[in-house]
Amino acid sequence: MCAAMLSRNEEALMSIMKVIKNVDRIARNEGFSGEGIEGLYGTIGFNGQMVLTFNLMRHGDLPSNMLRRKPGHGPVVVDFGAGIGRPLLLWTMLNIVERAVGFELDAFKVTGAATYTEWMLHEAVHERGLPVRREAPRVLQRDLLQLSPAEVAAHRPTLGYSFCAGVSPKPKRRIGDIFRAVESMRVLVVVDYGKRNAVRALFGDPEEEQQGEQQGPGERVVLHRTLRGLKPVGNNGTYTAYIFRKEEGEPRR
Ligand SMILES: C[S@@+](CC[C@H](N)C(=O)[O-])C[C@H]1O[C@@H](n2cnc3c(N)ncnc32)[C@H](O)[C@@H]1O
Repeated sequence: MCAAMLSRNEEALMSIMKVIKNVDRIARNEGFSGEGIEGLYGTIGFNGQMVLTFNLMRHGDLPSNMLRRKPGHGPVVVDFGAGIGRPLLLWTMLNIVERAVGFELDAFKVTGAATYTEWMLHEAVHERGLPVRREAPRVLQRDLLQLSPAEVAAHRPTLGYSFCAGVSPKPKRRIGDIFRAVESMRVLVVVDYGKRNAVRALFGDPEEEQQGEQQGPGERVVLHRTLRGLKPVGNNGTYTAYIFRKEEGEPRR
């Protein structure tokens, strides 16, 4: 990321993130790889996550300065297939979100999320003296196929996130269904491979999606934009973030 293009707030976040990234690298060497028993693992590198974060801030999907927010009015993010909660922890430590909740199938990763978080916060705060928020994301053991919109809605999420490359089609579709059903969730960020696959898996046929999915009265889901070139940890490929929003109005013709 080119430093000259960053605002002062973004630069400050980047400099803290770089130290967190080093701590995370040590964590991975210590065995907090994120691998579990079930399901493929994969996670975006922290640089890529910041590129995504700044994109969300610049489009108004996340507040660009949480310090100016009214207490209790910050964004709440839910991660569908949360692994050990890496993206949630980065967002929480940097005070980019008010609360973070993850749903993860694999009990091994859910336990790993607690130990990874504890280790990361200890290293960052006590060993490096970083000015990060000391709050752990909640990672709950849930199968997305059994997860009800009511349970998700109870967390009052404003933003949904999923790195769901490798997640099978039914849970992906469930993420789309939950996004439609949970009124407070206005934005859904899905990191995946090709566009047709990502969109169809979540919301059905891409042709339907282009016209806008009917939501409730006067509301539809649209693919607002894509962000390419996100690099995963420990892998050479790149992924794309698909950023869906709920918008008012009739479908485009
Ligand atoms: C690619 S990893 C992403 C992990 C995390 N969100 C991140 O970005 O670091 C996808 C995760 O989804 C989980 N998963 C797969 N199917 C699931 C399901 N049916 N219910 C809940 N989690 C699931 C996997 O165990 C895996 O940890």
